[in-house]
Amino acid sequence: MTKSAPASIRDAVTGDLPAISTLYNHAVRETTAIWNETLSDPQERRRWMGERLAAGFPVLVAEVDGQFAGYGTYGPFRPHEGYRDTVENSVYVTPDLQGRGVGGALLDALIERARAQGLHVMVAGIEAGNAASIALHAARGFTETGRMPEVGQKFGRRLDLVLMQKMLQR
Ligand SMILES: CC(C)(COP(=O)(O)OP(=O)(O)OC[C@H]1O[C@@H](n2cnc3c(N)ncnc32)[C@H](O)[C@@H]1OP(=O)(O)O)[C@@H](O)C(=O)NCCC(=O)NCCS
Repeated sequence: MTKSAPASIRDAVTGDLPAISTLYNHAVRETTAIWNETLSDPQERRRWMGERLAAGFPVLVAEVDGQFAGYGTYGPFRPHEGYRDTVENSVYVTPDLQGRGVGGALLDALIERARAQGLHVMVAGIEAGNAASIALHAARGFTETGRMPEVGQKFGRRLDLVLMQKMLQR
């Protein structure tokens, strides 16, 4: 595989759930990208994906050379009705394939889907030390609109949350 192999993006199918679950669990175990300590499994991810799709939100998969390379999705920013035109995204790229544009391809596709749905704002909630995710979002026009010191914790330390947002109307 070459470093420049482009990622192709498609809607997730149930056959992707084991790979999605494995990648999610890697993030839970090894990273502060997600502030959960509870591992998932394909059945739990199936419920999660079913809820996302039933609510009209996408779950997208990236492939590089026909292999699963990551996933991206968005869902409600906050549950209250007044936030109905604002969504929060998540993007996860397989560790071996990070840093070659897969995350960017997923985020571009999520932005296009959100625009097509007439949504107004996309938010990303990012751990303040996650330089790759902050760079990924900044390169796509997300700007920092909030910084919340020590609102989370993982691995025995408190974590700061950076909120970035992109206005979706062109
Ligand atoms: C964050 C993540 C999704 C980025 O995806 P990726 O495929 O590795 O990123 P890309 O190759 O598309 O690069 C995105 C940008 O970040 C930059 N970047 C990548 N790694 C970086 C790093 N460690 N530090 C600073 N910038 C970095 C790239 O140069 C690129 O900038 P550009 O578009 O201006 O060239 C991926 O690293 C990942 O899955 N990380 C673990 C899970 C995670 O943190 N998810 C996000 C939760 S908010």
